[in-house]
Amino acid sequence: MEKIRIFGNPNLLLKGKVRTSGSKNAVLPAIAASLLTDEKIRLKNIPLVKDVFSMLKLMTELGTEYHLKKNDLTIQVKKILSEEASYDLVRVMRASILVLGPLLARFGKAMVALPGGCAIGSRPIDLHIAGLQKLGATISLEHGYIKAEAGRLQGADIRFDKKTVGGTEHLVMAASLARGETVLRNCAQEPEVSNLCELLVKMGAKIDGIGEEVIRVNGVSELGGAVHEIIPDRIEAGTFLVAGALTQGGITLTNTEPAHLTTIIEKLRYSGAVIEIEKNKTLRVVGSSEIKPQDVTTSSYPGFPTDMQAQFMVLMTQASGTSIITETIFDRRFLHVNELLRLGANIEVSGDKAIVRGKTPLSGAEVIATDLRASASLILAGLVAGGETIVNEVEHIDRGYEAIEEKLNALGARIERIRG
Ligand code: UD1
Repeated sequence: MEKIRIFGNPNLLLKGKVRTSGSKNAVLPAIAASLLTDEKIRLKNIPLVKDVFSMLKLMTELGTEYHLKKNDLTIQVKKILSEEASYDLVRVMRASILVLGPLLARFGKAMVALPGGCAIGSRPIDLHIAGLQKLGATISLEHGYIKAEAGRLQGADIRFDKKTVGGTEHLVMAASLARGETVLRNCAQEPEVSNLCELLVKMGAKIDGIGEEVIRVNGVSELGGAVHEIIPDRIEAGTFLVAGALTQGGITLTNTEPAHLTTIIEKLRYSGAVIEIEKNKTLRVVGSSEIKPQDVTTSSYPGFPTDMQAQFMVLMTQASGTSIITETIFDRRFLHVNELLRLGANIEVSGDKAIVRGKTPLSGAEVIATDLRASASLILAGLVAGGETIVNEVEHIDRGYEAIEEKLNALGARIERIRG
């Protein structure tokens, strides 16, 4: 079991430049989309994180080949050897479910284990399944596997009861090869959904309403190759912006997409941080010595992302006053609170709200990472806690953050990975 040890310092100055990696949440559906064609898909700006390697392992299990050179990935799925995604792979990463629709649309059948993923609420996939059924798939659950079969999928009018990022991506991919028009209503508008739609358009898909709540897809009989750039990871960038807001050295973040960070930047500015949007996709953040409390409610894009909730909570433990953080996307997404309490934070959870009373000095302790973003929040807290913090079960962080220790150490933090 790997752990991360952080030598914290309440007066830490993080200073320097860090490059944001490509978006984990954008690359996973893009890899799944390569199943829709027998031509080459080249993806640039690939983040080298564990979830990407899990997705590539899954592609290999299906019998496909890929070539990864630095941050450049080429995949070509001429044929597949199996249309089955096994539990071993799917349980470590929920986004594996996204291969179901593309396999079904191109090869007519698919078997995918019911997913696992982050321990943040029940996270059903009913909307994915209902949508595929509306497109004409026959779906059953057998021995823990979702078994789907179809002739050519048929366009349909589908309304998502709830905005779902994965569900929208899944159905846009499947509808791209369906016969006739599909209208998807109440779609998630996250930049990662749009990035996928842009890839599909390059592949020959006919999609209207990219980035909007209603997306219309006119199915085509086949899709072709494409070269596509993955957008910068707005959650990684947001995490470094919080690191900058917590400290006062001044961090420059390159390879960002400021337009995707509007709500996060706004909240951090209200809390006192100075954030400048510079040329060439660069952001600069300097923290304030007097952090102001801020209430935050998570919601789907363009609202405040649930994936930034834990990190923002750490900042609020250092604000002078009380903040209320409301989580509306996932239930049970406050698992990091118990760990932050161990570091000395004053937080009370009541239903979907966390009441954070600041400012409390944090003191290093041993804590457990419960999910990907929780582990990022514990590292942030450890940075400004007095003494040593050990974050256990840190493999969660590797799912979505590329070289986090190296990046933070380059800014002046003292973090190391330990085994055992
Ligand atoms: C994606 C992101 C994840 C982020 C989340 C919300 C990826 C790989 N992961 O996850 O980092 O936290 O969006 O921004 O992109 N729901 C249903 N039924 C469904 C599908 C979803 O009820 O069939 C619910 C979920 O339980 C949740 C809400 O809808 O309450 C949003 O989930 P969704 O947007 O689907 O999240 P993911 O795509 O899994």
